[in-house]
Amino acid sequence: MAKLFNFIIILACSLLLITANCKKFSRKPKNHPKYNFRRQKLSHLHFYFHDRVTGKDPTAFEVASASVTKKSATYFGSVAVMDDPLTVGPNPRSKEVGRAQGIYSAASRNEIGLLMVMNYVFTQGKFNGSTISVLGRNAVLSAIREMPIVGGSGVFRFAHGYAQAKTHTFDLKTGDAVVEYNVYVFHY
Ligand SMILES: *[C@@H]1O[C@H](CO)[C@@H](O)[C@H](O)[C@H]1NC(C)=O
Repeated sequence: MAKLFNFIIILACSLLLITANCKKFSRKPKNHPKYNFRRQKLSHLHFYFHDRVTGKDPTAFEVASASVTKKSATYFGSVAVMDDPLTVGPNPRSKEVGRAQGIYSAASRNEIGLLMVMNYVFTQGKFNGSTISVLGRNAVLSAIREMPIVGGSGVFRFAHGYAQAKTHTFDLKTGDAVVEYNVYVFHY
């Protein structure tokens, strides 16, 4: 009986698509001129990230901390906001291709392990105005750290991939760091 009822509803909907009640709010397009998954391409981006926490022109600031942060060897509970330049070379005066904007927080009690929540905001060439979103763990004392790319905008719509970070220089006195990034990203 229920089956028959369903059948009648489906039949009615197919025949009378004009009635608002039968309209669906989702559909599975058979094809899309731009976003056919076979047309995905892989891009490799390579740039240097400059995290300046001291000096005349800092680009990252601690905005919150926990009662234990000062006593913690891993800065546990510290939260910082950054707007760090991304450049083509390790020299901070080399050409800027974008910024890394977001938050990092010390989320590990046993080693220095950051939770990174950031967007790469590109400002050059065909990537100008497009973003890549990264959400991952950054154990900054490890040689190579890997963070997932969870999405993107503009030319990076539907982005997925990974970012690998390798410390280029770290100034123990100031806390400033230059980090080399290799990013592999699938997009259209
Ligand atoms: C990037 O896009 C912005 C906004 O459209 C534009 O003002 C700027 O000149 C562009 N930069 C480059 C290098 O193309």
